[in-house]
Amino acid sequence: MLFTAAFCFATLALPLHASTIDYKKAWTTKGDKIPNFSFAGYHESERALPSLSTSAKKTLSPGSGDQHAAIQAALDDVSQDGGGIVALKAGTYPLSSGLLIHNGTTLRGAGIGKTILTVKDLREDVVTLGKTSGKEKMGKSIKITDDYVPAGTGTVHVADASGLSQPSEIGIENLSMRVKPSCSGRILNDIACSSAAVLVPSWTTNSWVRNLDLTGFNNHIGVLESASRITITMVTMNRDGPTDNRKGYALDIAIDGTQVLVHNAKTLGKKDARSYSVATQSVTPGPNVCIGYEAEQAVESIEPHQRWAHGFLNEGSKVAAVFYRNRGGAGSGHGWTINNGQFIFILSSKFLF
Ligand SMILES: *[C@@H]1O[C@H](CO)[C@@H](O)[C@H](O)[C@H]1NC(C)=O
Ligand SMILES: *[C@@H]1O[C@H](CO)[C@@H](O)[C@H](O)[C@H]1NC(C)=O
Ligand SMILES: *[C@@H]1O[C@H](CO)[C@@H](O)[C@H](O)[C@H]1NC(C)=O
Repeated sequence: MLFTAAFCFATLALPLHASTIDYKKAWTTKGDKIPNFSFAGYHESERALPSLSTSAKKTLSPGSGDQHAAIQAALDDVSQDGGGIVALKAGTYPLSSGLLIHNGTTLRGAGIGKTILTVKDLREDVVTLGKTSGKEKMGKSIKITDDYVPAGTGTVHVADASGLSQPSEIGIENLSMRVKPSCSGRILNDIACSSAAVLVPSWTTNSWVRNLDLTGFNNHIGVLESASRITITMVTMNRDGPTDNRKGYALDIAIDGTQVLVHNAKTLGKKDARSYSVATQSVTPGPNVCIGYEAEQAVESIEPHQRWAHGFLNEGSKVAAVFYRNRGGAGSGHGWTINNGQFIFILSSKFLF
């Protein structure tokens, strides 16, 4: 990923008439700089995603009835055996409950429209990348010893760094997922329809979601607080139902984590289907990046969504609206949504910042 020189550039902190800026220079006396968005993604985008041609450790064929136990057992075995790929041959795999992919393990289908995971409702997330419980480091606080941490810094000094790093490496790729009957557009308080296709829970790192086609979901992908270095690429989200917006709009990709790179994703759907395509949540730390997003619907936006997120770049996307704004009392009192927000080379009919 490249950080492109900033022509046609806008940020809340700069004079709006500026047509070029020197993004390497500090722009406050305390040393604050524009964050380096190159560091978003799997292994800080310093490494390519693992090859799709690596051979699988275990390969499953579709059986009859619920396939949850068979797939989960294969994922468990492979992870206990040092990690590797669980491949699902072409076919349909009905699931009665969610799958958990452990550290070091990848779930791979035979391709879009070939391997299809199906669920009947969304009371549970369908696929979770990494353990959600026993994350004892979560909530632990460690003292930062710097007097001031400038925006865009690459270094923070802490009193005790031991136990901070728990890298993981998990992937899901090359398959379709469907919800039948569709949950797309359902009212947000419908708990049978509210979970995600893919959840990246807290403390999962260096993981990826690649080449997926999702149909019938309302919220598609969630990256939770303290998950980091996640690449979401070539994901198509099909909204096949009209949106009931009485409780607000669903989020296609919700980012609470950091160093998340959303690359070449798409939301397709009818005109009466609406959503926020990519949204940062409450106090989401950046840098987070969305590149090359395409949203087909007439009313659809990519935006920092809740209060006080930091460092979000939207580049080269085609979307109905781009909002970087003070949302005031909207939602739960979302207020100012972004610090260090940037967008560049966007095709859209509606900008508000
Ligand atoms: C941002 O990081 C990339 C990757 O390390 C580096 O090549 C680039 O020079 C950095 N940009 C700035 C402005 O520091
Ligand atoms: C991945 O999916 C594509 C089509 O979506 C297919 O052409 C390719 O063979 C798949 N790769 C593997 C390793 O299954
Ligand atoms: C994931 O596996 C790697 C390699 O075995 C290991 O170094 C790391 O600690 C594991 N991470 C977690 C969260 O278990």
